[in-house]
Amino acid sequence: MNVFVLGASGRTGRLLARTLLARGDRVSGLVRREEQRAELAALGVDASVGALAGATAETLAPLLRGADAVVFAAGSNAGAREVTAAVDGQAVVETLAAARLADVDRFLLLSVLPEAGRGQRPDEDEEFYFAVKKLVDVTVTLSDLDWVVLRPSLLVDRPGTGQVALGPAQPDDEIPRADVAATLAELLHEPRVRRQLLEVTQGSTPVAQAVRATIR
Ligand SMILES: NC(=O)c1ccc[n+]([C@@H]2O[C@H](COP(=O)([O-])OP(=O)(O)OC[C@H]3O[C@@H](n4cnc5c(N)ncnc54)[C@H](OP(=O)(O)O)[C@@H]3O)[C@@H](O)[C@H]2O)c1
Repeated sequence: MNVFVLGASGRTGRLLARTLLARGDRVSGLVRREEQRAELAALGVDASVGALAGATAETLAPLLRGADAVVFAAGSNAGAREVTAAVDGQAVVETLAAARLADVDRFLLLSVLPEAGRGQRPDEDEEFYFAVKKLVDVTVTLSDLDWVVLRPSLLVDRPGTGQVALGPAQPDDEIPRADVAATLAELLHEPRVRRQLLEVTQGSTPVAQAVRATIR
């Protein structure tokens, strides 16, 4: 499978790229800086250098052409409002439109559980972040593409366990980024899971079994 990952330089995005490459998939992506491109190339990721914030569907589409699936794993992590609006907001909308232009049907969005880490540093930027994430989830779910929205709870950098709790609604908890990456990789390889918004947190079900259990 040929997967294009937006945010491949990020912590979850990079783990996803490694997981996919280990499964024998091809991974390409878009990064901001040449050193990120070189670092990812050493792993086997074919990344291009360019801006995501401010990119349009027309500029993104040629990059996506030929991919079997697009994963949007970039995000501001509740940083400055202008970055949140540009990356977590508009860039997702443009990537979704680009996927359509490039004839890529499968679109996975790494979103956020609406309670994840909320209130840890309560400020208006954080509330803005959650509002943007929610609106973008709505936009993706209205698309006629073969979308999946995955909302993880608070991301932590512990080693993965290979086990999760996955379903339409999950409690606010935490989850290793590696287990989120494994869940995204498994979802990519299970086309019967489509047009679903799923929440994921740490749990006790092996990832492949958890994904299979969501097939309708
Ligand atoms: N933190 C949490 O607890 C949590 C919980 C649930 C969901 N999430 C969501 O999960 C996703 C991944 O989180 P993560 O912690 O793994 O991410 P991360 O390590 O912070 O990486 C974020 C990615 O987004 C890219 N990015 C950020 N600002 C950008 C900009 N202005 N232009 C282009 N690219 C930009 C980064 O590129 P650079 O490498 O160039 O900076 C990087 O590839 C995010 O959407 C986040 O909102 C987070």
